Amino acid sequence: MTIRKILKFPDQDLRIKAKPVETFDEDLKALTDDMFETMHSVNGIGLAATQIGVAKQVAVIDISPEKNEPLVIINPEIKILDPSKTADYDEGCLSVPGFFETISRPSDIKLSYQDLNGKKQEIKPEGLLTKVVQHEFDHLNGRLFVDHISELKRRRIRNKIVKQK
Ligand code: NI
Repeated sequence: MTIRKILKFPDQDLRIKAKPVETFDEDLKALTDDMFETMHSVNGIGLAATQIGVAKQVAVIDISPEKNEPLVIINPEIKILDPSKTADYDEGCLSVPGFFETISRPSDIKLSYQDLNGKKQEIKPEGLLTKVVQHEFDHLNGRLFVDHISELKRRRIRNKIVKQK
């Protein structure tokens, strides 16, 4: 397993739309192993392949306190069941380190995806997981949580990160 480099906002590669996975093989498994190791190395709870410069629709998630409930979601699709239901979450991102903003997202959703074997799965996430799957889904479509805040705030965050480099 290898710890990969996580791209940081405003890296333009974070804007690339990931392509669907068609081959479920050992390479895919190895990619997710690297992604889990990379995510855990920085105490993250979710990481999308696009964040390490791999344009594939793959994300890893583990929101458990003991880090022992790994979830791999491949080719995810999200359906909003009730658009009137939303929840506010404080969000951060490994690609936007050190910054947190309150984001409102749909709270009544259904997630369809494929697992590492290519088997179709469907879950109705609750609580924190609802936010994380939408955050990772955004990544795979070239979107970041800072796209949900004002242009002014986004520019301020970008300038601070660029200065840190
Ligand atoms: Ni993120």
